[in-house]
Amino acid sequence: MRLDKFLAESSIGNRKMVRNYIKDGMVKVNGDVKNEPAVEVNKDYDVIEYIDKVVCYTGKVYYMFHKPAGYITARTDEVNRTVFDFFNGINMDGVFHVGRLDKDTEGLLLLTNDGEFEHQLMFPEKHVEKTYFFWAFGSLNEEEKKRLEQGIDIGQGSNEVFTKPAKIQVKRFGMYNELKGEMPIKNLYNIDSKKYEQPVISGYLTISEGRKHQVKRMLKAVGCYIVYLKRISIGGLVLDESLERGQHRPLTKAEVQKILGPV
Ligand code: URA
Repeated sequence: MRLDKFLAESSIGNRKMVRNYIKDGMVKVNGDVKNEPAVEVNKDYDVIEYIDKVVCYTGKVYYMFHKPAGYITARTDEVNRTVFDFFNGINMDGVFHVGRLDKDTEGLLLLTNDGEFEHQLMFPEKHVEKTYFFWAFGSLNEEEKKRLEQGIDIGQGSNEVFTKPAKIQVKRFGMYNELKGEMPIKNLYNIDSKKYEQPVISGYLTISEGRKHQVKRMLKAVGCYIVYLKRISIGGLVLDESLERGQHRPLTKAEVQKILGPV
């Protein structure tokens, strides 16, 4: 395999980072500095060193993570805690998050060091479905549901104004006072008592795009204000409900194959 691939799959860095390390002379193969990312190495026989430390080949890694609200989807941040804070003690150097969730969104986040896996899930032409569960202030009539399903104007922020077709399924609908006990938001939001007389709604929205704040903007376009949002699935991978918020586990082989096909 290529030297840059070997390093990327050993969680030394992503492909771009490891190419720079190689060009900067930080990598040796069997004791000799190699400056060519495409040089062929044998992961079983060659001794590869990065800054004079032998690199152990880890292979591709895939994690399912139950993101809690309050953390941002980024590697580092000067102010906020990030999802990587939950992977202390694990070598995450070449590992990146697949897509993003807003700071206040919880649920399924995938992390990997495999660019092809990310591509299969994120490339717009693949139209991978993502399902979100929401609670919102507001209500949805048949006409508004149809607008959500057929494509709705969510304004600036993308070349396309209208969203692609989506699926909406309402789960609960009633007044805040009746349903507030079911809303998992007590510690997240400061809801003032003026809203007690307002209707609230919960349900599932499935979209096949990944525009910024898309679910919140779609619901806002039909007069609903999201107060709780959780991603429950991406492309056939469903959040393992045995994972508590903040916990992660490796994907099973079958789960990886759902995305990549037989490997
Ligand atoms: N849509 C949103 O509005 N927020 C997210 O975090 C994900 C999808």
